[in-house]
Amino acid sequence: MNQTHISPDALTILAIESSCDETSASVTRGGKVLSNIISSQLQHQDYGGVIPELASRLHQQQIVRVTQNALDSALVRKEELHAVAFTAGPGLIGALMVGVNFAKAFALGLNIPMIAVDHMEAHILANFLQDETPGFPFLCLTVSGGHTQLAIVRDYLQTEIIGRTRDDAAGEAFDKGAKIMGLPYPGGPLVDKLAAEGNPKAFEFPISDMPGLDFSFSGLKTSLLYLVQKGLQRDPEFVQKNLHDLCASYQATLVTTLLRNLEAATLQHGLKEIALAGGVSANRELRARLKQLADSQGWKAFFPAPVYCTDNAAMIAIMGHYKYLSGQFADLSATPYPRSLQTD
Ligand code: KG4
Ligand code: ZN
Repeated sequence: MNQTHISPDALTILAIESSCDETSASVTRGGKVLSNIISSQLQHQDYGGVIPELASRLHQQQIVRVTQNALDSALVRKEELHAVAFTAGPGLIGALMVGVNFAKAFALGLNIPMIAVDHMEAHILANFLQDETPGFPFLCLTVSGGHTQLAIVRDYLQTEIIGRTRDDAAGEAFDKGAKIMGLPYPGGPLVDKLAAEGNPKAFEFPISDMPGLDFSFSGLKTSLLYLVQKGLQRDPEFVQKNLHDLCASYQATLVTTLLRNLEAATLQHGLKEIALAGGVSANRELRARLKQLADSQGWKAFFPAPVYCTDNAAMIAIMGHYKYLSGQFADLSATPYPRSLQTD
């Protein structure tokens, strides 16, 4: 295998992400993004959620085109690549298999190393895809469709999870809440948009009280369901008439729940820098209220650009970059894993 010493600035990585419903490929050089192609599988919208078998088939159809596109837009020939990084998990097993096998074949064909990347750890490193980056150690709240985690990030490749959800993930709570209000999948971005014109105090929802730094969102979701069911009994147009207020109140409670634990964790661990990661970190209310909290406490807050919040291969590439530099390579025996390595 061709694994000569390469200067960090020249290190050129191709990364493949296929853990859920985005087929993505990215090329980075020296830890800077040269291309980040994302093909979102909109076909799942017809079913109100991601259909795993359909996701695998669509990845299979798209992966060659997306990868070629990533190389072309980066103006990089495949012979210039030093390694191929891929998402090994967590995610949908069939979807992951497409990316893992494609990346293995690609690396093998070029006789270059392959690097297995954890999707959740990569979400955190999306904070290093911009000019202003957090300093170690910092606290990261990762909020995605499948996970909600509070972690102390001590170094690029060293994170310690100190809080997690006991039931639904934050993104799942957004999507399920949206579904209850009759909105299409994925509901998170729509709730964000509709909430902007609503009153966050119009409806009151319970804030869960979990021990330690863990989260729970299932009570909030159930109380929205009951509110909507009762409202519809009185008035069949209850949801349409109150949609903005329902979204604003539901979103505000979700954000309060997230920030309450984030604040407690930051104080407990004496940290001064906080980052967000994952799809839900694109949420405007979460970003604005974290910024307010950080300003009032004298902390510094960091947010990835929205394109690096949701699933993308650039975050896999940056993680691959640091794993390459520390000599952490995978081989042909690498297998995808469906569940989070650190939480289950
Ligand atoms: O990180 P991600 O792209 O995929 C997973 O790894 O799960 O996160 C997707 C989740 C979905 O639940 C989606 O509704 C949510 O992120 N999301 C948002 C927003 N943008 C995406 N939730 C709230 N507000 C947003 N602006
Ligand atoms: Zn994700």
